[in-house]
Amino acid sequence: MKRYLFMVLVITLYVFGFVITIYAISADEFLEMIKFTSKAVTKKGDPAQGKIFYAMYCTNCHGEKGDGNGPVSGTVKMDPKPRNHSDGKYMNARKGEDLFKIVKLGGKAVDKSVYMPAFGVILSGEDIMDLIAFMRTLAVPPYSGN
Ligand code: HEC
Repeated sequence: MKRYLFMVLVITLYVFGFVITIYAISADEFLEMIKFTSKAVTKKGDPAQGKIFYAMYCTNCHGEKGDGNGPVSGTVKMDPKPRNHSDGKYMNARKGEDLFKIVKLGGKAVDKSVYMPAFGVILSGEDIMDLIAFMRTLAVPPYSGN
């Protein structure tokens, strides 16, 4: 009988330990996620890195100079056209968080054109901050915010 109780105790501890382990791992991951998210929002973007991402993912539509005249914008009739990112009058008034949202979630999510893709799957929050920093350098007149 004593032996039986001992076995139950061992098994209970084992299962308990297992549950705790799983919980600890997911809690850790959860913390990582929060850390990452806050870093993504507070981190200052790096325009040099953003330029590389822009050339890879954005110039097809927005054009090399960001003027909205990329090759795809000519073949597919987009209405409205891809945004002219060098139009400082318009772009400088856009808040960083709005730009972040449309790049991450896509045009459809913010009631804009469905042709503006969602990049949240392939780009991290930091990558998007880099892109925003780069887009800010395209503006004429120049962007004077931070
Ligand atoms: C398939 C074409 C296409 C690609 C690729 C694309 N865009 Fe767009 N984008 C658009 C279109 C079209 C709009 C206009 C949306 C509207 O005004 O309704 C737009 C709008 C935007 C806006 C909104 C500006 C505003 O506030 O009105 C931002 C910012 C933007 N794009 C950034 C990017 C970035 C950064 C990339 C690359 C990571 C990218 N886009 C790739 C088509 C594209």
